Amino acid sequence: MATVTLTDGRNGKSYEFDILSPSVGPDVVDIRSFYQQTGMFTYDPGFTSTASCSSDITYINGEKGELRYRGYNIKDLATKRSYLDTCNLLLVGHLPSRTELTAFDLEIRKRSFVHEGLKNLFYSFPDNAHPMAMMSSAVSALSAFHYEHLNITTDTQYQVMARRILAKIPTLAALSYRRSLGIPFIYPDIERSFIENFLYMMRAYPSADTVIKDVEIKALDTIFTLHAEHEQNASTSTVRGVASTGAHPYAAMSAGINALWGRAHGGANESVIAQLEMIGSVDKVDEFIKKAKDANDDFRLMGFGHRVYKNFDPRAKILKQLLDELKDDLGINSELLEVAKKIEEVALTDEYFIERKLYPNIDFYSGLILTALKIPKSLFTIIFVIGRSVGWITQWIELKHDKEMKIARPRQRYTGPVNKKL
Ligand code: CMC
Repeated sequence: MATVTLTDGRNGKSYEFDILSPSVGPDVVDIRSFYQQTGMFTYDPGFTSTASCSSDITYINGEKGELRYRGYNIKDLATKRSYLDTCNLLLVGHLPSRTELTAFDLEIRKRSFVHEGLKNLFYSFPDNAHPMAMMSSAVSALSAFHYEHLNITTDTQYQVMARRILAKIPTLAALSYRRSLGIPFIYPDIERSFIENFLYMMRAYPSADTVIKDVEIKALDTIFTLHAEHEQNASTSTVRGVASTGAHPYAAMSAGINALWGRAHGGANESVIAQLEMIGSVDKVDEFIKKAKDANDDFRLMGFGHRVYKNFDPRAKILKQLLDELKDDLGINSELLEVAKKIEEVALTDEYFIERKLYPNIDFYSGLILTALKIPKSLFTIIFVIGRSVGWITQWIELKHDKEMKIARPRQRYTGPVNKKL
C-alpha cells in the first residue's frame, strides 16, 4: 500500500500513514492512527480537507463542475428520467425497470397519509411560524408515530422506513404551508403522481377543481432531481452525525432539516429571491456587486459560491437552461430574471469573483422557477427538503451498513484558561 510520511520539524521523528485510493477523485490519507502515533490532533475547521466516511452514492468533481448519482451524470438523470426513478436509484442502487417503478410509485402514493393525530401538532404553532420550523418539528414528531424504526437492522426494514418518510414529507410540507395561511388541510390524492399530488395538496380548495399543468410537473420534477443528493454537505453530515449516536432515523432527518435551514446552505434559495427583489432593477446591480466585494461589508451575493464547486455548479446550468425553455409557459417574472442574468454576467467577468472561483449555485435560479409555480419564498427551503430527503435517508442506510462507522466525535484545540483556582 502507498504511504505518506510526515516528519515533525521539531525533533525529526517520522510517521507513516496509508494512502487509500477511491474509485475516482483525490486519494485519501488515512489518519485514524494519527493521535495514537504522534500524540497530536489534526486541525481542519469546516472539514475543508477531511473525508468523514467512504461512500458509493454520489461523486462530485468540483473543479470540472461534475455531479453523478451512483455513477449517472446529473444532466442525464434530470433530463431523461424522473425524480422517482432517481429516488429508486439512490435507495436501491440501480435505476428501476418499468415494473419496479410502478410498484415503487404505488407504494409511495399509499404511504403519503400521515397519522390524524399529527395534524394537531400544526394547530399548536403560532400563525407566523416559519414553515421550516413546522417541518422539522413534524418530521421529529414522526419518530413518535413510527417508533418501531428505532432499532431496525435489515434491508427490508430500512426500505420501509425510508419509503415511509419519502412519501410523507410532501404531505407534511403542504400541511406546513396550509397552516401558515390558516386554510383547511387537504388529504393526499393517491390517483395523482408524486409531484402532481404535492402541488394539489398545496393549492387545492375543498370542492373546487385544481389545475396543475404538465409544464409545472416537469419543472418541479427536475428541481427535486437536482436536489436529491449531494454527498457530505452540512445537512447530510448532520444526519450522519445524529445517526452515528443510534438516534431514531426521523430524528436524524429532522436535524438535517434544521441544518439545511441556514442561509449558507438550503436557506440560500429564499435569500436569493429576497435579494433579487431588493436589488429590483438592472441598473442597481453594480452597486450590490460592489457591496459583495467590500471586505468591510458582510453582504454576500446569495446563490454564488460553493465549498466544492470551483466551476459552474452543474445543477445551476441545468436550471438556467430549464428557465430559458419554460419561461414563457411558466410565466417567469421577467424583471427579476433580467436582474439575475445581469448579476451573473457582471460577477462572471469580475476579478473578485474570478479569483475566488465564485459561480452561480443551484439556489441562484431555483427561486425564479418556484415563484412561477406559485410557491411562496418561505416554502423554498421546504422544496429543498422534499428533494433532499431521499439523499439523507440513503446516507443513513449506508452509514448503518458501514463497518468502519464510529460515533461522530471531533477533537478540538483548547485555547481557554488552564488551572484556575477558586
Ligand atoms: N459573495 C461574495 N463573496 C463571497 C461569496 C458570495 N456569495 N461566497 C464566498 N465569498 C468570498 C468570501 O468572502 C471569501 O473571500 P476572502 O477570501 O476575501 O475572505 C472567499 O469568497 C471564500 O469564501 P468562504 O466563505 O471561505 O467559502 P466557503 O467554501 O467556506 O463557503 C458558501 C461556501 C456557499 C457558504 C459561500 O460561498 C456563501 O456564503 N455563498 C452564499 C450563500 C449560498 O449561495 N449558499 C448556497 C450554497 S449551494 C446550496 C447548497 O448545497 O447548500
